[in-house]
Amino acid sequence: MSSIQTNNIVIFDTTLRDGEQSPGASMNLDEKIRIALVLEAMGVDVIEAGFPIASEGDFEAVSEIAKIVKDSTVCGLARATRADIERCAEAIKAAPRKRIHTFLSTSPLHMEFKLQMEPEAVFEKVRESVSLARNLCDDVEWSAEDGSRTDHDFLCRCVEAAIDCGASTVNIPDTVGYAMPDEYADLISMLFNRVPNIDKAIVSVHCHNDLGLAVANSLAAVQAGARQIECTINGLGERAGNAAMEEVVMALMTRADHMPFSTGIETTHFTKASKLVSTITGFTVQPNKAIVGTNAFAHESGIHQDGMLKHAGTYEIMTPESVGLGMSKLVLGKHSGKHAFSEKLKALGYDLGDNAVKDAFKRFKDLADLKKEVFDEDIVALVDDEVVRANDRIRLVSLEINCGTVHRPPKASLEMEIDGDSKTCTSTGDGPVDAAFNAIKELFPHTADLQLYQVHAVTHGTDAQAEVTVRLGEDGKTVNGQSADTDTMVASVKAYINALNKLLVKREKTAPSALSA
Ligand code: KIV
Ligand code: ZN
Repeated sequence: MSSIQTNNIVIFDTTLRDGEQSPGASMNLDEKIRIALVLEAMGVDVIEAGFPIASEGDFEAVSEIAKIVKDSTVCGLARATRADIERCAEAIKAAPRKRIHTFLSTSPLHMEFKLQMEPEAVFEKVRESVSLARNLCDDVEWSAEDGSRTDHDFLCRCVEAAIDCGASTVNIPDTVGYAMPDEYADLISMLFNRVPNIDKAIVSVHCHNDLGLAVANSLAAVQAGARQIECTINGLGERAGNAAMEEVVMALMTRADHMPFSTGIETTHFTKASKLVSTITGFTVQPNKAIVGTNAFAHESGIHQDGMLKHAGTYEIMTPESVGLGMSKLVLGKHSGKHAFSEKLKALGYDLGDNAVKDAFKRFKDLADLKKEVFDEDIVALVDDEVVRANDRIRLVSLEINCGTVHRPPKASLEMEIDGDSKTCTSTGDGPVDAAFNAIKELFPHTADLQLYQVHAVTHGTDAQAEVTVRLGEDGKTVNGQSADTDTMVASVKAYINALNKLLVKREKTAPSALSA
């Protein structure tokens, strides 16, 4: 069937590939698996799980996700080389539904300066790479990198060749976020008008947000016939990011009167997915971000509140419930029992073994003693904190901080366990956080530099848990450590230690080669 005859839009998520390419947004294997499972549960059609040749870690992540994900197609990215394509095929082989996504630059600028290849050689490589990929996998997507700045005649020839060699999806990226919506729509229409075999493939779009137009460009392309949108949760991605999935999907749903297209996405998962991705990467979501910002459904002014009370439609074009908001109900307290707690865990999407539930319940009781009200978000933070610490080599045993207006430098006394050995020290610093981080360095010397230290309140109120992210960088590798605790200093030290543990794991894996995609 011609792709343009159907009104279903294929949602291709690239949070784990393009999203992970944002500087600092690195994720470890467990985190990638958790995100992939959320994407699968929300009905994403294609999950681009990584770039298998980029590193051992990328390969492992794609192959593990391929083993676990059943409903979504698992896709890996490959440059137009035999080594990339074969490595990709190997990584995705366990997936019930799998795709190889291979790409090559087609714009004059990229061909001359990046590839240093003549257009004819590029054309031949398109044929070669797609044919090879097609021999290894039934589902092949070909991308014309920098497609929006490509000469039209050449783009038509390459797209036709890719389809001829077996690509069932052809993607026309706006790699540098340069296109305007009407211009991009014209480009897609031009392909429908001029490429003779275009009806044999789905036309896909992949828009970057350098001018803030990624979502508008994606929607304009759909109106011109594109039937796959490549996007990410929270719009994560290279530079200014990619089109945000929650925005394109909610726009299609809310304005179905204007754009009669459907997706298979269960939109009530958006809030949870957004929170998960921002916690893991340390990329906070701006409060006024569409769909998932904390203010996206807040009505502050009196006039708006009055209107809302009379009729929600006055100022609300979609309901908060439709994107999964409304979680912040008071749920459990210090008198709640284990049964109620494990039922709550199930409702929040956790499937933990008996011992893990027991540990989490003990931590919940400790939290309920400290905090008057325990919200769903507290339980999520608490369980996530437990999960990330399971195999740590470095652990916090105890921490005591002295600080305040007294004229003495702040002091941190720290006890840590490193590979089973207990170590203690006392350090000072330019404030309690500096003193505590100095103490960690004294007990576990390292050269990684602190790139981010970020604190958020999980819920409202002065007794809220602090959620801390610490980003460390070492030899071009970055890791994000997280923790949550009602004591901000404890959360800070645990987040730093979590980052160190991740760095130790990363050191064992092969360093990624310099790649560009
Ligand atoms: O932006 C881009 O062109 C890409 C391709 C690899 C699809 O990410
Ligand atoms: Zn991209």
